[in-house]
Amino acid sequence: MLELEDVHKVYEGKSRVAALSGVSLRIAAGEMVAVMGPSGSGKSTLLHLMGGLDVPTHGRVVVAGEDLAEKGEEGRSLFRRTHVAYVFQAFHLMPTLSSAQNVALPLHLAGVPRRDVDERVARTLVDVGLGERAGHLPDELSGGERQRVAIARGLVTGAPLLLADEPTGNLDSARGAEILGLLTRIHAERGTTIVMVTHDEAAAGTCRRVVRIRDGRVESDR
Ligand SMILES: Nc1ncnc2c1ncn2[C@@H]1O[C@H](COP(=O)(O)OP(=O)(O)O)[C@@H](O)[C@H]1O
Ligand SMILES: [Mg+2]
Repeated sequence: MLELEDVHKVYEGKSRVAALSGVSLRIAAGEMVAVMGPSGSGKSTLLHLMGGLDVPTHGRVVVAGEDLAEKGEEGRSLFRRTHVAYVFQAFHLMPTLSSAQNVALPLHLAGVPRRDVDERVARTLVDVGLGERAGHLPDELSGGERQRVAIARGLVTGAPLLLADEPTGNLDSARGAEILGLLTRIHAERGTTIVMVTHDEAAAGTCRRVVRIRDGRVESDR
């Protein structure tokens, strides 16, 4: 599903930052992998590259057989719409749209016919336990519920790869455990490949594979 080969990422800003320095990783379809490491070690950068949000300065990133670095901005954006569900710590929902409208967005972008959109949105909201919250605005939801909406928005297109960057980072431990339970169920039921950045050892414990990153390199992988 995912293949990174000697991936480097250098940010050229006021100062030059080598965020990743030679990462090679293979993740098979259907794996659930935790990525751990200190703050600033390159975890978010790694996820951005896996999801085609950014391109490496050196090396190859192949996702579902497609070399993302070879695609332009436009090609990567099309690829993301159908292949990648991205879940952020801070949810990133549109504040003026209801849960259902937020979840419908990627379907509208993908050109799914309107009559199919409502049904798929309703089904996905029920699947994440939010059937009763379809008309609520993000402001009217708890943090855990907002993250469920974000997960539903990611999954509604049927994306085979879910990338989650500290998905429980803004939640208390009970809400965080619910989100982890949801991700684990999605993985089991849909066979979605999941890569999750987390600081939480308990969260990492639910994954069969844990990759530790330090200073932009893979420190351990087991
Ligand atoms: N857009 C950017 N421009 C410049 N430097 C960045 C940018 N994004 C991240 N960095 C730097 O790259 C390093 C890795 O960042 P990041 O991948 O966000 O780490 P983590 O998610 O593990 O905390 C850090 O030193 C960070 O300051
Ligand atoms: Mg980060």
